[in-house]
Amino acid sequence: MSNVAPVLTPDDMAAVATLVYERSGIRLTEMKTALVNARLQKRVRAHGFSTFGAYLNHVRHDPSGVEQLAMVDAITTNKTSFFRESDHFQFLADKIVPALLSRGASSIAGWSAGCATGEEPYSIVMTLLDALQGRGGCAIDMLASDVSATALATAVRGAYAIEGVQDVAHDTLRRYFERGVGEQEGLARVRLAVRRLVGFDQANLLEPRRLARPRDFIWCRNTLMYFDRAARQRAVASLMANLAPQGYLFVSHAENLSGLDHALDRVAPAIYRRKR
Ligand SMILES: C[S@@+](CC[C@H](N)C(=O)[O-])C[C@H]1O[C@@H](n2cnc3c(N)ncnc32)[C@H](O)[C@@H]1O
Repeated sequence: MSNVAPVLTPDDMAAVATLVYERSGIRLTEMKTALVNARLQKRVRAHGFSTFGAYLNHVRHDPSGVEQLAMVDAITTNKTSFFRESDHFQFLADKIVPALLSRGASSIAGWSAGCATGEEPYSIVMTLLDALQGRGGCAIDMLASDVSATALATAVRGAYAIEGVQDVAHDTLRRYFERGVGEQEGLARVRLAVRRLVGFDQANLLEPRRLARPRDFIWCRNTLMYFDRAARQRAVASLMANLAPQGYLFVSHAENLSGLDHALDRVAPAIYRRKR
C-alpha cells in the first residue's frame, strides 16, 4: 500500500454524497469535501485501497451493505452533551410528567431518535427519575436509537470523560454517576440503575418502523438539520407513526418543522404537540 494519501476527486465526492444520502438522508454539499476527505481516509486505508475510486467501488458492490453503513458512521456528527438545551428538560419535568400522572399513567414511554453517544437519553431518564420521585408506581420505558454503531457502543457503555460531565449539577452527578473501574478507570459512568432503563437500538430514521407502544414524547434534536427537505419529511412521518395522541415531539432550537406536512402544534420553542 502506498504512503501517499488518497485524493478525493469531485467525482468521488459526488459518489460519496449519493451513497451517504441513500443510507441516511444526510445531504453532503461540496462544502463538506474537506470533512469527507479527512473522515474517510481511514476507511480507504483500512481496506488497503490506494484511491477513493477503488474504495467506492468496493462500497457499491458490498452486498451486505456493511461498508456503506461504516461510511455513514464515519461521516455522522455525533456531538452531544448532558442536559443540552436545558429548557427542554424543564418542560419534561414541569409539564409532561405531571400531565401524564394526572391521567393515571402507569408508565411513561419516550424515544431519543438520533441519540448519538447516549448523553441525551440518559439525561431524560435522570429527569424522569427526579420528577417521579415518590411515585413508585410509574415505570419508565425509554428507547434510544441512532444509525451510528460507534456512537451506540459508547452509549451502551455509558462511561464519559470527566470533561463531559463537568457541567452536570453536583447533586445529579452524585446520584446518577459513579467512578468508572477497570476499563472505565478515570471516566464517569452512568449508574446501572439508569443505564438499564434505556434500550439502545441501531436504526435508520428514514426507514418506517412501528414500535409496540406509541411514545408519549420523542426527541429528535440536532439530527433533522443534516437532512434535505425530502428526508426530513420521511423522518417526521416515521416519528409521527409512533407518537401517541397529544404526545410531544422535540427538535433542537436550531431546527423547525416549517415546510413539512405534519399534524403538530408548536407549543414552546422547539417543542411540538400532536393534535390528535
Ligand atoms: C449531532 S447528533 C445529535 C445528538 C442528540 N440528539 C443531541 O441533540 O445532542 C446527530 C445524530 O444523528 C444521527 N443520525 C444521522 N442520520 C441518521 C439517520 N438517518 N438515522 C438515525 N440516526 C441518524 C447521527 O449518527 C448522530 O449521532
